Amino acid sequence: VEDNWPARTVVVTGAASGIGLALSKKLGTLGAQLVLVDLEGPALRAAAGAIPGSIPRACDLSQPNSIHSLDEVVGEADVLVNNAGLGVLVPIDVLPDEKWQELLTVMLTAPFMLTRAALPGMARRGFGRIVNVASVYGFIAARRRAAYVSAKHGLLGLTRAGAVEAAAAAPDGNLTVNAVSPSYVRSGALERMLREQAAARGVSKEEVKREFLARSLIKRLIEPDEVAEAILFLCREDMWAITGQSLTLDGGWLST
Ligand SMILES: NC(=O)c1ccc[n+]([C@@H]2O[C@H](COP(=O)([O-])OP(=O)(O)OC[C@H]3O[C@@H](n4cnc5c(N)ncnc54)[C@H](O)[C@@H]3O)[C@@H](O)[C@H]2O)c1
Repeated sequence: VEDNWPARTVVVTGAASGIGLALSKKLGTLGAQLVLVDLEGPALRAAAGAIPGSIPRACDLSQPNSIHSLDEVVGEADVLVNNAGLGVLVPIDVLPDEKWQELLTVMLTAPFMLTRAALPGMARRGFGRIVNVASVYGFIAARRRAAYVSAKHGLLGLTRAGAVEAAAAAPDGNLTVNAVSPSYVRSGALERMLREQAAARGVSKEEVKREFLARSLIKRLIEPDEVAEAILFLCREDMWAITGQSLTLDGGWLST
C-alpha cells in the first residue's frame, strides 16, 4: 500500500471501535492526517490517544444538525470512509419509528450528507476516495433486520449514484466511490448481539454464532483488520478504475 499511499487527509466515521478503529490504526501508521468521528465518550478519546496525529471529532450521526458540523472538515478530506453503524434485531411489527429513523440516518442519510460535503473538494483537487461500509445485507434480507437491510441496500445505491456523479465531476480525475460489504465481522457490536440473542432465546452463544454463519461457506468470523485492508485497497492511488463497486467479504455466502 505504501507506494500508492501519499500522506492524505482522511475522515473515518465510527472510528472508535471495530472496523473503524482497525482501519484508523493502519492509516495512522501510513502517516495519514486522520479525523476520527464517533459519539462523544471514552472510546473516541482512547482511539485518538492511541493514534499519533489523529484528531477526535465527537458527532452524533443520528442528528442531521450534528452531521452538518462536519461539512468543513469533510470538504478538505481526500478520503472519506462512511463506516459508523448499528443494528437492531426486531421484527417489523414491533420496530419503533425512532429506531428505524436512527438506523436510516446513521447508515444512509449521514453518508449522503458527508458525500455531498466531500465531493466538490475532491473534484477540485482531482483525487478522492469515498468508501461506504455496507454489508451482505445490502444485497439480501433476513428476518428481524428490516431497518438494517433497508439502510444497507440504500447505501449500495448511494455508492453507485455517488460513483456516477464523481466521475462526471472529475472525468480525468482519480475520484472513486465504492463499498465494502462484509458478512459477520468480529466486533463489540457482534459480541453484544450474540450475547443478547443467546439470552433472549435460551440457547448458547456458540449456537447463535453457528446460525449466523449457516449461509457462509467459510465458517469463521471476519476480523476487523481484514475489512480494513479491503478498504485500504480501494483507497490506493492506482485503483482509479474501480468505482461504483462493492468489494464483498462474505466467505462465499452470496455465491450459494
Ligand atoms: N460486525 C459485523 O458483523 C458487520 C458486518 C457487516 C457490516 N458491518 C458494518 O460495519 C460498520 C462498523 O461496524 P463494526 O462492526 O465495526 O461495529 P462497532 O459497533 O464496533 O462500530 C460502529 C461504530 O459506529 C459508531 N456509531 C454508532 N452510532 C453512531 C452515531 N449515531 N454517531 C456516531 N457514531 C456512531 C459506534 O459508536 C461505533 O464506534 C457498520 O456500518 C456495520 O453495519 C458490520
